[in-house]
Amino acid sequence: MTGHAGGSAEPPDTGGVGGTTRQAARWATVGDARAHVTGRLAAAGVEPCEVDADLLIASVCGWTRPRVALERDTPLEAGTAAAIGALADRRAAREPLQRLLGEIGFRRLRLRVCDDVLVPRPETEVLAGLAIEATPPEGIVVDVGTGTGAVALAVADEATPGLVVATDVSEAAVACAADNAQRRGLAVNVRLGDLLEAVPEQLRGEVDVLVSNPPYLTPEEVAAAAPEVAEHEPREALVGGAGGQDVIWRLLAAAGQWLAPGGTVLVEGATTRLAAAAERAEQLGLRGVGVQRDLAGRERVLVARR
Ligand SMILES: C[S@@+](CC[C@H](N)C(=O)[O-])C[C@H]1O[C@@H](n2cnc3c(N)ncnc32)[C@H](O)[C@@H]1O
Repeated sequence: MTGHAGGSAEPPDTGGVGGTTRQAARWATVGDARAHVTGRLAAAGVEPCEVDADLLIASVCGWTRPRVALERDTPLEAGTAAAIGALADRRAAREPLQRLLGEIGFRRLRLRVCDDVLVPRPETEVLAGLAIEATPPEGIVVDVGTGTGAVALAVADEATPGLVVATDVSEAAVACAADNAQRRGLAVNVRLGDLLEAVPEQLRGEVDVLVSNPPYLTPEEVAAAAPEVAEHEPREALVGGAGGQDVIWRLLAAAGQWLAPGGTVLVEGATTRLAAAAERAEQLGLRGVGVQRDLAGRERVLVARR
């Protein structure tokens, strides 16, 4: 869409570093901004560009998205226009939308999205749901590779655990998860470390639910992904070694030592490699091994018990 929603005679902005920020000075109304930002995002290959344009404008103005359309004739102050233009330039450079908006909805929660921390994905809500269902009252839950804390926080929010521990190797992720826990007033104990090494030793053999959305892509899969992923998400959150399975297999190998008898391990993985992960889990002596599908019907989560 390149048409003008407002009355400006300016052509839509179609590119150039900082181009939208410079053009913003000439936007008279919200409608002008909407038309130019939409055109700029379309030229950069962002889809759906109208939705992203409205959400960026709404976030700067502190409005809901539908209000952007209703305010098309409202005059824009220079500072507001410049702020919208700067966000549009970043989105045109294919930074993930949610990182620009600063937060994302995950199940019942709104979470802060942080620099250098993976933006939680809708399919991971299925993993969180399985963890919530598997958590007994007062149970002990460990979320490995917590990122923003999404899964751990959803469990603390929707189940009645006695203890939720969340780990990550990334300092940015640990800080982000701890901040989200504090903002939401949810009790999650966040620790820095590889897999389960930072989990208190006395929890060995006591964990009721071990849940993880670990890095599970190959370097080639990341290289082929959309720029939002390949260029803007942290590599350590995505790549699970040359074959994509390194972190999953190390986690499965540790699961038997940390789970309580009958405890559940839930691991998100690549559809094409879950069968191999399930075979590995069986070889390691885990029981009741199965695979759950995501909302798109793709095999997504490995489920097993000690
Ligand atoms: C795919 S992201 C998932 C983040 C979050 N759980 C979510 O679903 O949005 C994987 C996370 O695992 C972390 N990670 C990678 N290797 C790890 C390891 N060996 N031990 C602990 N965390 C790890 C990354 O830093 C990243 O935050």
